[in-house]
Amino acid sequence: MDGNGRWARARNKPRHAGHRAGVRSVRATVEVAAERGVECLTLFAFSSENWRRPEEEVSNLMGLFVEALRREVDELHRNNVRLRFIGARQQLKPGLVRKISAAEAKTAGNSGLLLNVAVAYGGRWDIVEAAKRLATDVANGTLSLAAIDESTFADRLQLAGAPDADLLIRTGGEERISNFLLWNLAYAELYFTDVLWPEFDKDEFDKALAFFAGKQRRYGHTGDQVEAAQC
Ligand code: IPE
Ligand code: MG
Repeated sequence: MDGNGRWARARNKPRHAGHRAGVRSVRATVEVAAERGVECLTLFAFSSENWRRPEEEVSNLMGLFVEALRREVDELHRNNVRLRFIGARQQLKPGLVRKISAAEAKTAGNSGLLLNVAVAYGGRWDIVEAAKRLATDVANGTLSLAAIDESTFADRLQLAGAPDADLLIRTGGEERISNFLLWNLAYAELYFTDVLWPEFDKDEFDKALAFFAGKQRRYGHTGDQVEAAQC
């Protein structure tokens, strides 16, 4: 979700006004994803690198997360959304962690859209943490070295159990992954748009879905093989 700062600057507003406007796009995106039957949506809200931003901006963003949780969780729950947070939550303030845990517990039994919010998240961090868990399990004898494969590895990632990402949407004009879900994006279609995040809405989401619908997913096969399998 990129482009909040540029959106604000273009309107002579402070950066936090852009982040606040970005929350509206989050709401619209979650709604349209649920309407379109998306199974799993992961939002990159704050990266492990975003701690490098000025202290005031970081604290504004953290305040916005707390506020958004206070305002939105009941409605998400009513809409059958299951909310989960991924990232290094020990780096967050205890008040925010409590709100996160309460939101997860409240929505844990829901069967609709799985909404993951990545906060203090980095793709490399995720992989290293999974490696540490694997090493621990091997060291204490609950997992054999021979049992390590892509599946046992993926089971120890933050998004264990979630489907692989099919589509990555990045707003704001940059065409990079910026340490998002490195493992899970292995076969994702990549959709980049110049639209700034506060202007991203249901129509823009539908454009991304149309882009995705036009892709043939081959996973290493030939196009002919894929077409034959569809008949
Ligand atoms: C993304 O918008 C929001 C977060 C990282 C939280 P930016 O703040 O990166 O916006 P630009 O890139 O400065 O426009
Ligand atoms: Mg940016």
